[in-house]
Amino acid sequence: MMILKHTVMSFLLLACFNGLASDRVEKQAAIASAHALATSAGFAILAQGGNAFDAAVAMSATLAVVEPSGSGLGGGGFWLLHRASDGFETMLDGREKAPLAAHRSMYLDQQGRVIPGLSKNGALAAGIPGLPAALVHLAEKYGRLPLAQSLQFAIQCAEQGFVIGQRHSKLLKFRLTVLQKHPEAAGIFLKDKHLPATTSILRQTDLAHTLKQLARDGRKGFYAGAVADRLVDGVRNAGGIWTHQDLHDYRVVEREPVKGEYHQVKITSAALPSSGGVVLVEALNILAGYPLEDINAISRKHIISEAMRRAYHDRAFHLGDSDFVNVPVNRLINKDYAAGLSSSIRLDKATPSDFLAGNFQAKIQGEDTTHFSIIDSEGNRVAATLSINFPFGSGFVPAGTGVLLNNEMDDFVSKPGAMNGYGLVGGEANAIEPGKRMLSSMTPTFIEDAERVAVLGTPGGSRIISMVLLAVLEFAKGHGPESWVWEPRFHHQYIPDQIQYEKGGMSRDEIAGLTMLGHQLKEVRYRYGNMQAVLWNKKSKLFTVASDPRGEGLALIR
Ligand code: GLY
Repeated sequence: MMILKHTVMSFLLLACFNGLASDRVEKQAAIASAHALATSAGFAILAQGGNAFDAAVAMSATLAVVEPSGSGLGGGGFWLLHRASDGFETMLDGREKAPLAAHRSMYLDQQGRVIPGLSKNGALAAGIPGLPAALVHLAEKYGRLPLAQSLQFAIQCAEQGFVIGQRHSKLLKFRLTVLQKHPEAAGIFLKDKHLPATTSILRQTDLAHTLKQLARDGRKGFYAGAVADRLVDGVRNAGGIWTHQDLHDYRVVEREPVKGEYHQVKITSAALPSSGGVVLVEALNILAGYPLEDINAISRKHIISEAMRRAYHDRAFHLGDSDFVNVPVNRLINKDYAAGLSSSIRLDKATPSDFLAGNFQAKIQGEDTTHFSIIDSEGNRVAATLSINFPFGSGFVPAGTGVLLNNEMDDFVSKPGAMNGYGLVGGEANAIEPGKRMLSSMTPTFIEDAERVAVLGTPGGSRIISMVLLAVLEFAKGHGPESWVWEPRFHHQYIPDQIQYEKGGMSRDEIAGLTMLGHQLKEVRYRYGNMQAVLWNKKSKLFTVASDPRGEGLALIR
């Protein structure tokens, strides 16, 4: 039976401690991440006297080395933090920014058509990275250990190498042609321009050197000096538009998380420029009016899909970087606003998406990005979702840096208000502007009720939010992390007007019933997401953890 292998290991560990006194148990910590080496890095730092925030630095840097398909120094992310000593909560926004020379027609030809691939592949696709600055900020402001100590594990992984494994190989294959076009990236990730064996060891000496500069000099080790020179020269020589000013100006921003409540469950989630928290809370507010536990599976999936449709519709229309555009966040997460949306849902019929005002489209993405969750022995929490956008980002590495750059510029709308060559259309709020952050779907989240507190998140592009939504509904039913990561997933994002569901994830009766209600259904050929979740039961004083069976992660209690 395909069981949650890592969860089982954690349950076994947990079982070992069950008989111990509760204060012994309280000294434990719980970590779930997409890679065993990142989970090990987190525990190693905790063992050295670090807190969850130091562990987050170590894990972010280690994931940058051992899961280069998902995140890295050339990318960005969001770190949702809870400090146990005073209950303070914040979201560290290390999202990439558009270069100062960026402009809204930079991916269009002279006829105003989107040039295929330009915002996805190569140097012009890369936003200014935020991850290195975020690691420095996290270590200096919230950590207990020196940055250099927290980066040591990642440096060793880069120097000594690691076995790449099946997931890495699968994603390399997906981006093979792009990597082949960029000699520096091909030299690092490919073997004679071809796919390396799954058992190959990947050593990244340039990346180790760049990490050492960051460890020694802090943000200047990346955003100034020799590394910055190489980054800017490499990007510009390959047709990109970065300048030293872009790197010099990059700043991490602390933002107030989005908060909501679903029945008695408190939600704390990502703020703009991620759409995650707003869409999640808006959808939950709509759903709060329905007795979801007392109705049949078809009606339940119908109502959840209708809530997703309406919340993603608002995403497409209203959401963007709130430092640049006015976003009516308070209205969108208001319960009375949700009641209005809810009144437009018919129980006997799907609402066609083009009956909702306007006609924009959000995009679907796949197996990019990464997530990890931590609760340390003091109760500090970190939910971090990090990304370089597509698997292996832009496929471009500036010579001598080892830094694989993101293609996060593709998260902007290349052509506001009209469908582009890829069918991707969005709102003015997310149009390209110099120095602006592109809209994200990353949804690092805390959920809490009287008895339990959980930290969770997942990669998966625009489906991230619906995955977290389904997990919150499972939590509200009283189920634990193993059910959140295991449950078959379904998704509606307004346009395309269809319910997507994971291979094998809907029964024949559900498909027939939802079709009768007027829904289009589409089976996604693969199982998506890679959720990492940890839960602390305040009453029993026990942790439960789970790593998604779709990935190769490791969740542990120690
Ligand atoms: N690049 C994925 C996201 O931010 O949503």
